[in-house]
Amino acid sequence: MRTSPVLVTGAAGFIGFHTSLRLLKSGKTVVGIDNLNDYYDVNLKKDRIKELEKFDGFTFVKVEISDKGQMEKLWSDYGPFKRVVHLAAQAGVRYSLENPYAYITSNCMGHVTVLEMCRHTEGFEHLVYASSSSVYGGNEKLPYSVNDNVDHPISLYAATKRSDELISHSYAHLYDLPQTGMRFFTVYGPWGRPDMALFIFTKAICEGRKLPVFNHGKMKRDFTYIDDIIDGVLAALDTPPVRDGKKAPCRVLNIGNTRSENLMDFIRLIEGELGKKAELDLLPMQPGDIAETFADIEETTRLTGFQPRTTIHEGVPKFVNWYKDYYKVET
Ligand SMILES: NC(=O)c1ccc[n+]([C@@H]2O[C@H](COP(=O)([O-])OP(=O)(O)OC[C@H]3O[C@@H](n4cnc5c(N)ncnc54)[C@H](O)[C@@H]3O)[C@@H](O)[C@H]2O)c1
Repeated sequence: MRTSPVLVTGAAGFIGFHTSLRLLKSGKTVVGIDNLNDYYDVNLKKDRIKELEKFDGFTFVKVEISDKGQMEKLWSDYGPFKRVVHLAAQAGVRYSLENPYAYITSNCMGHVTVLEMCRHTEGFEHLVYASSSSVYGGNEKLPYSVNDNVDHPISLYAATKRSDELISHSYAHLYDLPQTGMRFFTVYGPWGRPDMALFIFTKAICEGRKLPVFNHGKMKRDFTYIDDIIDGVLAALDTPPVRDGKKAPCRVLNIGNTRSENLMDFIRLIEGELGKKAELDLLPMQPGDIAETFADIEETTRLTGFQPRTTIHEGVPKFVNWYKDYYKVET
């Protein structure tokens, strides 16, 4: 009997690529979709897909998730999909001040379209979707717990991610659709995103340019290595929530490293790996940004067994080595 493939949305993206890769390496069949938009270098997205296409079990389809017609065609041509890892979204806090519509289209309309497809799938098993630590907004209580109030987003990006969680809850309640929302905390690693700190810093140091360092470097982040994130995503995928009396089969989980690292320590590690000193451009805090993030993962560990393992001392060199190799940088 043919087992239904896992659908990964945003497969050309950083986390979608690694999710697909891990599933393929474990012998699963994966259909990966993405609209290959140009928010950042499209060649990087295409190269990730090329890596995935080395596996027989992988099929890539270019799809716009907010387009109902394209999604219905995908489901009838390649589905039905009973397990979906939904990672396609317009990411980035700062860009949401510049292009708000992209966030509503991809993160709100796109999320509802994915939910509608899942709800009309007989025997649907589990939808795991990406939320974000940004939902904690200006909360001052650390570490951030999934039981904290998150109704005061400080960026449109965060507001769309929180909306996804609320919309998902309504679908779980109404249609018994099992779902897990993953609140990712600053993910980094090989094949990472060019708009994120590690990439920007590494590139600037390699090119001898000044590093833009916001909040004058007084930032702490729960940097989480990509392999740990994928452990969490797949552990969650294998343990769908079940209805418990009136409680809908739906949950949100923090997926972080549980260690808040100083941004400056992170920069020192990149310098060490490149053997080059960084020149810092100390800037004020950006609107919508958060000075410190730190995840409480107790519930995630209890429900899925998730435990992050990689320290920044192991993870940063892995990223820098990938960067040097991919961009053919001589140091
Ligand atoms: N990387 C992080 O640190 C981080 C932190 C918190 C949350 N997240 C969330 O995790 C998910 C994956 O993030 P990522 O870092 O891999 O980002 P990414 O930008 O690398 O990947 C997202 C992919 O989705 C695709 N996409 C966007 N809109 C689409 C649409 N309308 N239709 C089809 N495809 C579309 C993009 O082309 C991209 O390849 C996102 O939902 C993001 O918001 C990421």
